[in-house]
Amino acid sequence: MTPHPKPPLLSVRNLSIRFRTGDGMVHAVNDVSFDIARGQKLAVVGESGSGKSQIALSIMGLLARNAQAEGEILFDRSNLLKLPTSELNNIRAREIGIIFQDPMSSLNPYMTIERQLGEIVELHEGASRSTARKRALEVMDAVRIPDAKNRLKSYAHEFSGGMRQRVVIAMALMCQPKLILADEPTTALDVTVQAQIMQLLDDIQRDLGTSIVLITHDLGLVAGFCEDTLVLYGGRIMEQAPTLEIFEKPGHPYTRGLLRAVPNIGDPAAKLLAIPGSPPNQRRAIASCPFHPRCVDAVTDCAEKLPQLDGGNSKRACLRPVEELT
Ligand SMILES: Nc1ncnc2c1ncn2[C@@H]1O[C@H](COP(=O)(O)OP(=O)(O)O)[C@@H](O)[C@H]1O
Ligand SMILES: [Mg+2]
Repeated sequence: MTPHPKPPLLSVRNLSIRFRTGDGMVHAVNDVSFDIARGQKLAVVGESGSGKSQIALSIMGLLARNAQAEGEILFDRSNLLKLPTSELNNIRAREIGIIFQDPMSSLNPYMTIERQLGEIVELHEGASRSTARKRALEVMDAVRIPDAKNRLKSYAHEFSGGMRQRVVIAMALMCQPKLILADEPTTALDVTVQAQIMQLLDDIQRDLGTSIVLITHDLGLVAGFCEDTLVLYGGRIMEQAPTLEIFEKPGHPYTRGLLRAVPNIGDPAAKLLAIPGSPPNQRRAIASCPFHPRCVDAVTDCAEKLPQLDGGNSKRACLRPVEELT
């Protein structure tokens, strides 16, 4: 008998997100499906505007008012897209936490760190002040904020950028969520601090078993961190595979283009190649490969047919066989 596979923690099924705007619809996310297992680290990679943040926001029920979302986001058997706000509020913070790029946008400049952290468990778990303080201290230790006890009364502006992002991660951890969505968590930080924050997220996953979705435009960040990577273009998944495969045997021309644009530390003189052309037109519903106008491997069919995401452990949405790619 084959062992029963564990059900995924979160399952995104045929998610499409459109925005109504003054001059027509914007098709931001198109028929996206993926699963996140317990304890898994999944990277969602793509250029700016490819729909990464909208996927995260839809999971949190935070889409803009002009958005329409179709499909299912299954978490604990509920479809998050259909849950009433009161139930969604229970899941937000307690089950799923989110970290944004700019720590200052998540922090209240007028509140002490103790209040910002404490309020979360007081609100969501009915914790008392003293329990909240205790938990805040534990979490500050977990995110390695030195001298936590003496910093409880500090304000966000008294912290460095890296320390602020640690506070934001601490906020996400207060209710011990099963899943953390990290949307470009290190983009606003310099490289050494960036490495420390990535290490911290890694430790959190290992110590607490939290699943992490790392959203980034930087494929270089993903290499040592996520076991699996999903590549988005024009709001559609181009390729999804174990990260090692993505780097060693990329199966999609877009992924290959992205890899040529990642700086190589071992060879700083190596030429960086930007992908020529401009981002896809999101005003029209997708009917053919969104990448074909920029693709070096495109054939006539690519402008006419919509490739499906196919494969087992490694999936790709491309009409051309891998062996024939340049
Ligand atoms: N409220 C909105 N109204 C119209 N278009 C929007 C809105 N929010 C986002 N978009 C569009 O959705 C697309 C995907 O955005 P986003 O998910 O933020 O991209 P990124 O991959 O950079 O995170 C972009 O083209 C963006 O302009
Ligand atoms: Mg974004």
